[in-house]
Amino acid sequence: MTTPPSQTPEPSVHIDPYERGWIIAAIVMLVVFALAVAVASYSLGIQLPSPEARVDPNTISSTGPFANPGLRELAPGRYEAYILAIGQGWYFNPREITVPAGSEVTFYITSPDVQHGFKLEGTNVNMMIVPGQVSSLTRRFDEPGEYNWVCHEYCGTGHAAMYGTLIVTP
Ligand code: CUA
Repeated sequence: MTTPPSQTPEPSVHIDPYERGWIIAAIVMLVVFALAVAVASYSLGIQLPSPEARVDPNTISSTGPFANPGLRELAPGRYEAYILAIGQGWYFNPREITVPAGSEVTFYITSPDVQHGFKLEGTNVNMMIVPGQVSSLTRRFDEPGEYNWVCHEYCGTGHAAMYGTLIVTP
């Protein structure tokens, strides 16, 4: 014998009013955070660095493009910047690069030792630098000036000394 559907008792789940309030608050916060991420990505132009390639931290300084880091001109106004973030001595190699205004620069950055960061002030270029992984972002520089970059991931006692400069000439 089966119970006719009309006689199935209504399920009743008791939720405490406080618990219901917090469930609703958590859902509202998730929606607000998702909207904040969407607004940030589309209107503020936030870029997520892609893991561009894998490299061997042991041979990075002797083979491949990072053996001779620096700026390469691909075409007029189009550059690649290979930068090493080095923890033994706490410096970037190179510490300074110069491009003319209107240039588009693709940054390729990695580390032979520990985790670092790369934040170019006043721009949306902001990456974590992980040994074995090449981080990459592209940006166009129309405004002449000096843009300082800093390591913004704590990497040891010389962390605060890790910085460099991108010079955009008129
Ligand atoms: Cu490199 Cu902090």
